[in-house]
Amino acid sequence: MENNIIDLSLLPPRERHATFFSHFARLTPGNSLVLRNDHDPKPLFYELQAEHGAGFSWEYLEKGPEIWAVRIGLQSDSPADESLGQIVARDMRSISVFKRYDLDYCCGGKKSLRQACAEKNIDPEEVLTALERSVDQPHPSRALPYEEWSLSFLADFIENTHHQYVLKALPDLVTYAQRVAMAHGEHHPELDQVKALVMASEAELRSHMAKEEQILFPYIRNMERLVKEGNGAPAGGNAWVAQPIRMMEMEHETVGSNFAQIRQLTGDLALPEDACTTYRLFFELIDTFEDDLHVHIHLENNLLFPKAISMEKALVP
Ligand SMILES: [Fe+2]
Ligand SMILES: [Fe+2]
Repeated sequence: MENNIIDLSLLPPRERHATFFSHFARLTPGNSLVLRNDHDPKPLFYELQAEHGAGFSWEYLEKGPEIWAVRIGLQSDSPADESLGQIVARDMRSISVFKRYDLDYCCGGKKSLRQACAEKNIDPEEVLTALERSVDQPHPSRALPYEEWSLSFLADFIENTHHQYVLKALPDLVTYAQRVAMAHGEHHPELDQVKALVMASEAELRSHMAKEEQILFPYIRNMERLVKEGNGAPAGGNAWVAQPIRMMEMEHETVGSNFAQIRQLTGDLALPEDACTTYRLFFELIDTFEDDLHVHIHLENNLLFPKAISMEKALVP
């Protein structure tokens, strides 16, 4: 929920410019405000650019025809103001630190470290120190140079590793969920809810990955090919990609929150004393599956999708 909103459309035109700049002057580094107006406030972008160079961000939230809304942020040099997704994109070793502090770097990857810590009542300096220490750890084998890859290669990689893993693991996950709920549901009634969340995630993931593989990823590969060949814009020259990406991000949030609920229901996958081997294997699989899901969603939300949106913007201004 945005709380720093300035609605210039409610003010007489002569007061708008000064009102905006007095609010912007009070903005502290790493924070943002949302500007609403009844026409495109692009001239302000050029004024800010002249004054701040590249030290601010400008993101359209609505583009007319009646209302324009732009999120304008003042950038900061502090690492605490970097987003969780950017930190992970730069160094995958940060994943273990974020997991330890229960900070969501995939669906919540757009939040700054400072903001995510504030929501969990954690001192961001403590996390920054842990991140610095993690740099001394050896790189895990999965720390691949994702950032350097072409979008087509990244999409192929996601399909061939993460989608394949999900398809392979889902039947086991569902079977375990059903068996464990059947055998232990009487003494652990939360297992029925866990089973329902697993089944809902299975259905969601199957249709979600099919949409990515059949529609979104082919569009991205084709767009990149057109850019390489200097062959014009895709989709008849219309911007298309942001909307399906928004839909994919919402579906990521749904599945991510299903697994977060499973953790909540089970006391962070704590095994009860009467847990049998299947119960233990089930919880181990949930843990591994969720880890993979987080990296998978991170690669899409924080790398593939923003790069595809930028590429399309350059083709279809
Ligand atoms: Fe995916
Ligand atoms: Fe996805």
